[in-house]
Amino acid sequence: MKGRESGMPDETYWTSFFDADVALEKLLGSRVDGNVIEFGCGYGSFTVPAARRATGSVTALDIEPEMVDSVRRKAAASNLTNIQVKVRDFAAHGTGVATASQAHAMIFNLLHLEQPVSLLREAYRTLQDGGVLSVIHWRSDIPTPRGPSLAIRPTPEQCREWMAVASFHAIESVDLQTCCPFHFGLLARR
Ligand SMILES: C[S@@+](CC[C@H](N)C(=O)[O-])C[C@H]1O[C@@H](n2cnc3c(N)ncnc32)[C@H](O)[C@@H]1O
Repeated sequence: MKGRESGMPDETYWTSFFDADVALEKLLGSRVDGNVIEFGCGYGSFTVPAARRATGSVTALDIEPEMVDSVRRKAAASNLTNIQVKVRDFAAHGTGVATASQAHAMIFNLLHLEQPVSLLREAYRTLQDGGVLSVIHWRSDIPTPRGPSLAIRPTPEQCREWMAVASFHAIESVDLQTCCPFHFGLLARR
């Protein structure tokens, strides 16, 4: 089932909210040794910069075929051969990715869906020991031009609680003010 309020606006409008490369430098660093999984890749705004950093492959999943097509086109245009993009409903069927096969999991602008802890548990399952989860989401402490309704928009504190329930540790905040002023960032480890 597609997560509530997870539709996308026009791509130019969406990408105006992020400097994705700077955000990933803060969240993933300049290099990820291993594979990356991305839950709900959307247009692939973060997929391509993640693939440039990963020594392994980036598995980008989305329930919407047109989003998957968009990412495929970007991967081809960038000559990146390490992006595997698939239409998949990970809320209903999980990721299909092998246990402990990923170095990094990205959940961006998605934790307002119905079963956030289930999603985090699936991310945890896919990560190898010491693997890193990154989360970004719309802030609710300032007015934002977009984002899910405030009633379902999780705060950083709520996300931290869910992460801990899903067994993540070493949860830390990442300041995204310079690259995504309407968002907060969190990192955690398996
Ligand atoms: C708000 S968008 C965020 C896209 C991307 N993470 C970003 O930040 O640019 C959420 C994406 O998750 C996808 N999505 C929602 N529910 C899903 C599900 N159950 N399985 C797979 N993808 C899903 C939507 O189709 C949408 O492209």
